[in-house]
Amino acid sequence: MSATEADVSGLLEEAVKSGLSRIAEASDLASLGQARAAVLGRKAALARARSALGGFDAEQRRELGRRANEARARLEGALEERERAFRAVEEKKRWEQERLDVTLPGDEPDLGGLHPLTKTIWEIVDIFVGLGYRVADGPEVELASYNFDALNFDSQHPSRSEQETYYIDDEREVLLRTHTSPVQMRVMEASKPPVYVVCPGRTYRRDVLDPTHLNSFAQIEGLAVDEGITMSDLKGTLQAFARELFGRDLDIRLRPHFFPFTEPSAEMDVLCFVCRGSGCRVCRQEGWIEILGCGMVNVPLLEWAGYDTERYTGFAFGLGAERVAALAHGVPDIRYFYENDLRFLSAFEGGMA
Ligand code: DAH
Repeated sequence: MSATEADVSGLLEEAVKSGLSRIAEASDLASLGQARAAVLGRKAALARARSALGGFDAEQRRELGRRANEARARLEGALEERERAFRAVEEKKRWEQERLDVTLPGDEPDLGGLHPLTKTIWEIVDIFVGLGYRVADGPEVELASYNFDALNFDSQHPSRSEQETYYIDDEREVLLRTHTSPVQMRVMEASKPPVYVVCPGRTYRRDVLDPTHLNSFAQIEGLAVDEGITMSDLKGTLQAFARELFGRDLDIRLRPHFFPFTEPSAEMDVLCFVCRGSGCRVCRQEGWIEILGCGMVNVPLLEWAGYDTERYTGFAFGLGAERVAALAHGVPDIRYFYENDLRFLSAFEGGMA
């Protein structure tokens, strides 16, 4: 039994009607996909109508085919419209979920800063640069000949022992410098007078750690060689330096001492800035605090450098940076500078020493 034209017309009308209502029922993109399969699929009324077309003559087939195409176009149009609506809803939902509030405060990253010891070193170096000194540098792995011999250390000097000094080689010719004084020799070796230099740097000694000793510490060396330099130049320079660093009205004193590389030699104390001389815990009841060693450059050093010792004299000094930083900031234990505890370090944020 072959289908009549009325049958096919009915099928097409039915396909459109039921198809449109099926499409209208879809509630989201997923159910719309199912509706598409049901409406345009191989078992749908539309497909069935199409497959019946074969039994008609050419003219009827053309007419029915046109109507079938129309029906398909209507269904596809409806599907497309619904799909667009669902996509718009989904997009809106996503916008809501992913909305970025650019007015919310951001996470502030912690800012780093200079280490308090670095600040102190820079501040001290700055004071001398202000007085016309140049900054010089030397190796931390140094030759014993610069660290000891050129500086007039006796061959039996106790500092040369392996209990005091880190040697690199068995022959004890190479070592970790025990002070910044060898930079004096390297500077004099490389340049003619007048010489005005400060030499900040790291130094090493086989010390047991305690509140005032480290086995790696920083020193700042100073050297001035020129015509007519006297002990009063040394004292005036150090007085100016101490006042700049610790405060305008702070006195210094020089106490006689011994260093092989200076003659005469002295240690410099500053008046205790806590008790101003009357004695307290910070100065251990002394009233004064030792901060550096100094003296007039010993003649053998000038000779070693090939300087005319009739014409030139000089002074030198060396200070421990941790010691001075600790005093300047009231830090009771110099090991704190190396513990990397942010609670300690952040207390020094902002200004200089
Ligand atoms: N080098 C000495 C030390 O490490 C410090 C020192 C003392 C340096 C006197 C000097 C100086 O230049 O003249 O203990």
